[in-house]
Amino acid sequence: MSTAAHSKGPDMRVSFAGVELRSPVIAASGTFGYGIEFEEIVSLDRIGAFVTKGLSREPMAGNTAPRIIETAAGMINAIGLQNMGVRPFIAEKLPKLRKLAGVVVIANVFGFTIEDCLEVIGALNDAEGIAMYELNASCPNTSHGGMVFGTDPALLYELTARCKAAAKRPLMVKLSPNVTSIGQMAKMAEDAGADAVSLVNTFVSLAIDVETRKPRIANVTGGLSGPAIKPIAVRMVNEVSRAVKIPVVGMGGIVRAEDAVEFMLAGATAVQVGTASYADPRAVENIANGLKRWCAGHGMAQVASLTGAALL
Ligand SMILES: Cc1cc2nc3c(=O)[nH]c(=O)nc-3n(C[C@H](O)[C@H](O)[C@H](O)COP(=O)(O)O)c2cc1C
Repeated sequence: MSTAAHSKGPDMRVSFAGVELRSPVIAASGTFGYGIEFEEIVSLDRIGAFVTKGLSREPMAGNTAPRIIETAAGMINAIGLQNMGVRPFIAEKLPKLRKLAGVVVIANVFGFTIEDCLEVIGALNDAEGIAMYELNASCPNTSHGGMVFGTDPALLYELTARCKAAAKRPLMVKLSPNVTSIGQMAKMAEDAGADAVSLVNTFVSLAIDVETRKPRIANVTGGLSGPAIKPIAVRMVNEVSRAVKIPVVGMGGIVRAEDAVEFMLAGATAVQVGTASYADPRAVENIANGLKRWCAGHGMAQVASLTGAALL
């Protein structure tokens, strides 16, 4: 019998795509830096995993300010996928992460062409200390007139199939919610070989300053996240979990343990927490601890038994 089976309290382990996590609560991409920045605030080995900022072939400076605004129960961001680039990440951040025992790193990958994505994956393949890739499909494909990969079924299929063929690690495809049928998009990713899907990314949104009549975000539109999107995200996770057999990782507005429970009941194997880390950098750890208490309080032996257990 394993040590965890002897230890007190509910078994919080979940596993998907061949990777075992000690908790189903994961820090979402773009809201947890490269992990290292949170090392002194959060016990990184207590949370399930963290997803890096999106990594691209070359470093990116991102959009001009204002790039983030608060909305009712959420925020709009148009950071513009600012990041240090995949090679500096491997050289400067990954060695520090490797020294922190027990930290599960998921590398978020994006590009403006399929070749860009393949190059990022190729560079990461040779680096140690990464458990899985999360492929951000909410990105415009500049070689196809700027159409977002994750909003066109054929394009998503091609992106996923080629990245899967190149990836030496499990591939999770992060779906865009800005589609008519997210279940259909998830099925495309599954058919193309994805090992898991994660959802949702942010919703395209617009806020206008009524005094200046100008957009409140310099990029004009931005992505809406936070509690405002949670009920739509829960519906989408449920829809996707019925459409595919591969594991589903759910997110969108999770701020407390009960939110995580709701996503798991809807069909998620694990969850991610993004915007909540802006209000409280310890949110991911607090939600992970809260979820364990919730399970204990409800007499649950295994958190994994929540997945898909809603009475719908
Ligand atoms: C400031 C900010 C930056 C983000 N950057 C990325 C990113 O680089 N790659 C990505 O796949 N998702 C990115 N996201 C989306 C989040 O990972 C998450 O999918 C979304 O915010 C919904 O979850 P939440 O409501 O818990 O924030 C970003 C979100 C925010 C708020």
